[in-house]
Amino acid sequence: MSLLKIARMGHPVLRRTADPVADPTDPAVAQLIADMVETMLDASGVGLAAPQVHVSRRIIVFQVPAARRHHDEPVGPDGVMALINPVVEPLGDRVESGIEGCLSIPELRGVVPRWAAIRYSGIGADGAPVTCEAHGFHARVVQHEVDHLDGVLYLDRMLDLRLLAFESELQYLVDEAATLAALDAAEGTSP
Ligand code: NI
Repeated sequence: MSLLKIARMGHPVLRRTADPVADPTDPAVAQLIADMVETMLDASGVGLAAPQVHVSRRIIVFQVPAARRHHDEPVGPDGVMALINPVVEPLGDRVESGIEGCLSIPELRGVVPRWAAIRYSGIGADGAPVTCEAHGFHARVVQHEVDHLDGVLYLDRMLDLRLLAFESELQYLVDEAATLAALDAAEGTSP
């Protein structure tokens, strides 16, 4: 296993549409996933997409900590998942605002609207098909990572760049996000 270099915003690999993985059982894919998981954990991230390590292929890894998991969400015991050729569809039309960061955009956090609930599918690291319904944090991290496969960064999804801040000023965003969440709840849905 080895740590991989993370591409930062501005590198063109982050803006490309990644190619599907033709053979999910290729040992090179398993090696890449192992290295991506190690790189994500080393960088204290909760998700990483292959384009972020300069590989323009449709592979993501992510982590759903136990405390942020719904009881019926089938993730591994350590909360780490890998998905090859993932596909996301919204469940319902409810949108939630929440705070995101990105290993390719160090030190910043922003408030981003995402589908509150999704169904996703793909191929797991063991080569078996995966289908899962996810809510809240789990749904958010998958949407963020799958966006990377289409060259989309969370900044592109933001509706108000005043809700972008340095991590050291996070309390400002927490307060603003709480206000937005209250508005989301009051209005039901917002694009
Ligand atoms: Ni990211």
